[in-house]
Amino acid sequence: MSERVKTLIALDAGVDRETVQTALPEGSDIQVVALVDGLEESWTALQETAIDLVVVACGGYSERTLVFIDGVVKQRADRPVVVLCESSPNGFVRRVFEAGADDIITLPETPGNVLFALEKAVARKHGSSAATGVALAPMICVLGPKGGTGKTLTSCNLGVSLAQDDHKVTIVDLDLQFGDVGLALGLSPQRTIYDLVKAGGSLDAEKVEGYLVEHSSGVRVLMAPTRPDQATAITVEFLRSVYASLRAANDFVVVDTPPGFTPEVIASIDSSSHVCMVGMLDSLSLKNTKLGLETLELMGYERDRVQVLLNRADSRVGISADEVAAIIGTKPDILVPSDREIPVSVNEGTPVVAARGRSEAARAFRSLAENYLAGETAPSTNGRRSLLRRKK
Ligand SMILES: Nc1ncnc2c1ncn2[C@@H]1O[C@H](COP(=O)(O)OP(=O)(O)OP(=O)(O)O)[C@@H](O)[C@H]1O
Ligand SMILES: [Mg+2]
Repeated sequence: MSERVKTLIALDAGVDRETVQTALPEGSDIQVVALVDGLEESWTALQETAIDLVVVACGGYSERTLVFIDGVVKQRADRPVVVLCESSPNGFVRRVFEAGADDIITLPETPGNVLFALEKAVARKHGSSAATGVALAPMICVLGPKGGTGKTLTSCNLGVSLAQDDHKVTIVDLDLQFGDVGLALGLSPQRTIYDLVKAGGSLDAEKVEGYLVEHSSGVRVLMAPTRPDQATAITVEFLRSVYASLRAANDFVVVDTPPGFTPEVIASIDSSSHVCMVGMLDSLSLKNTKLGLETLELMGYERDRVQVLLNRADSRVGISADEVAAIIGTKPDILVPSDREIPVSVNEGTPVVAARGRSEAARAFRSLAENYLAGETAPSTNGRRSLLRRKK
């Protein structure tokens, strides 16, 4: 590590400050810029200072610590979090990792060993992107509370639109049981995410690349397992590592999700920088879209990071734009009409943006891609990378 790693040490109530201080390495690249008593105070300090590494110290099992880790990870998924714990009772270690921490060290421990663990967490988390100073690429999670609303259609057309604009794009098929991105793009599942998890070992960008299948548009796909029973092998921790690797090696990552807010979908939303909420233009579907948007709000996802797409949005449905806004609480960003070319293009395995570029549906999906490309360029307050127009 050549650059100093600005580190915040957050002390939970009940942990012995001296035990923690004795374990901290001195004279290394790990630069402790703040040692803060209390997790609430630490959270405030974290908002005010640029921090590269968060170390949380607790006495033993602590729900407060778990909530704190969860918040820190949600705020910036690419920043490592390490836990120092005076004792690690049953179940706590697992919960710490589930909350998104990178490592847990039981105290007392020598400063040398603590330093090694901290450096390992930083190196692993940042991978090649830290070495080159390259920020993580935007990751767009395509969501819809109900089945059949057009999520896969949107993911594929968005991915291909971005690729047509010369960006390096990977689509992840997170519909782990019934994924059909491969079908929609006419790709056969030579390699899938299941093969990647079964390969074991550490996940770096180069390894993940080997499991992607390429479409003629240049979009690469991490395909869903070929059998539904294989889905259980894909854990939330594994997904987090896959996303980190993909975001370090692509210009855009698009995630196609199954309906609803499953644990995998929630983890993907947490790891993503942007969301596309796909709904349909009927009152039942609009109600679900509203619920989905409210769920995102509860998760702390700001509206400006969400694009709302209404599919099958024809004027003859009899719901006006104002009525839509009144039901879902916001104006939709993109309207995609019903178009018989869409099922034809799905059957051909070529998305409409590639097969029928002049159709109204293709234009709508291109606008969606443009909205993501035209995102603001200032660094975002929540640490998520903003959308910079960046060519391959
Ligand atoms: N605007 C449209 N016009 C015509 N057909 C459409 C349109 N949108 C979607 N379809 C058709 O509806 C079907 C379902 O779309 P899609 O697979 O994208 O939905 P989904 O939300 O991914 O479903 P699931 O929840 O099952 O994954 C597709 O076969 C597609 O051809
Ligand atoms: Mg789908």
